[in-house]
Amino acid sequence: MRILIRNGVVVTAEGTGAADVLVDGETIVQVAPGITASADRVVDATARLVIPGGVDVHTHLDMPYGDAVSADDFASGTIAAAMGGTTTIVDFAVQDRGGTLHAAVQTWKAKASGKAAIDYGFHVIVSDVTPAVLREMDELVNEGITTFKLFMAYPGRLMLDDAAIFRALLATATNGGMVMMHAENGSVIEVLQERALAAGHTEPMQHALTRPPLVEAEAAHRAIALAEMAGAPLYIVHVSAAETVDEIAAARARGRPVFGETCPQYLFLTDAAYQQDGARFIMSPPLRDERAQERLWRGLLADQLQTVGTDHCPFTLAEKHRHAAFNQVPGGAATIETRMALLFDAGRLPLERFVAVTATEPARLFGLYPKKGTIAPGSDADLVIWDAERAQTISAATHHMRVDHSPYEGRVLKGAPDMVLLRGQLIVEHGAFAGVAGAGRFLPRARRPV
Ligand code: URP
Ligand code: ZN
Ligand code: ZN
Repeated sequence: MRILIRNGVVVTAEGTGAADVLVDGETIVQVAPGITASADRVVDATARLVIPGGVDVHTHLDMPYGDAVSADDFASGTIAAAMGGTTTIVDFAVQDRGGTLHAAVQTWKAKASGKAAIDYGFHVIVSDVTPAVLREMDELVNEGITTFKLFMAYPGRLMLDDAAIFRALLATATNGGMVMMHAENGSVIEVLQERALAAGHTEPMQHALTRPPLVEAEAAHRAIALAEMAGAPLYIVHVSAAETVDEIAAARARGRPVFGETCPQYLFLTDAAYQQDGARFIMSPPLRDERAQERLWRGLLADQLQTVGTDHCPFTLAEKHRHAAFNQVPGGAATIETRMALLFDAGRLPLERFVAVTATEPARLFGLYPKKGTIAPGSDADLVIWDAERAQTISAATHHMRVDHSPYEGRVLKGAPDMVLLRGQLIVEHGAFAGVAGAGRFLPRARRPV
């Protein structure tokens, strides 16, 4: 099947211009103005943008969290992603303490297989750094699972000490993988939580007060120093604090391969949200103030932050509300569907940078480029025909995520996908899902050259 997308404005991280896009089967074969080749289907993209399918490298689908499970599985989560213009995700497989990394990957492959409507890869959350696990990290890099999330928070569950972190970083320095760091000082949080609870403070605002910005920035600083001593690259996930952006910017100015991700919730919401029905907004790190938001936007513009991932980890209102104190509420928010529209509507990034942070840079950093993340001959035909003028109102009543609330309820956004293609197959048309749950493929990812 050949599809010709005519008369659109093609946007890549490198530039914007009027061009047609010819797709043959699963692949883009030509990008040029005035293509005259014959096609089985011609799509008129007049007055619309043609952008690469979004790449969201931070999702938690079907993830157990205490006795709860994140509300979207690989079917509902990837359909919602597609509806928002995202065609690739990289989800986190979680190592059980004492279990192997391969077992975690097998479990997550089973969760995704037959359900995912878009393409997907996996990172592994490493909860236990043993000599066997370090060997497994080398093996997984060779199998296309090249990135490993470590936690500096959640003592007794996921938190690793500096020795374990340093060992994992040393492994990635030579195996071509990369550590993704959850940078929060878990010991300080534990003490601040103990004190808050002892004083009878259980309300959601305490979540932010017990995780002040320096909790994040100190951990980021330490992680950056450990990575530098190990000679390893480092990706810091879900950056929320201005001080953390400063740490990443300073490391990058020294020429270190340190990368930062922020998320829509930190760009569009503030800690004022904890005042009213605040449990809904409990996520880690917590929401911050307007000053932090401004620093994040500035960081995205200045390439001090490279990506916007979602950290999509939704829990129903019943789950969010059934706990007596802030520190028991499962953390996370629902954003997999709204990431691209929120960012586009804000209008704060040039179009090329919008494409870079939502598709190209995540594809590059996570070994998927140029198959994913761009519009070029030879790339997968993952394309979004984006109507910059179409308004949409965000609401849990109409979104496709399987959760009964949205952090952005009632927001009117300008800009939405008209049509989404995954490897040349139409998966969204006229505002409706037209794909197949199960058509998504596992993506082995390329390792970083060492
Ligand atoms: O609160 C959050 N962010 N939950 C998801 C897990 C994580 O730390 O990314
Ligand atoms: Zn995290
Ligand atoms: Zn996360």
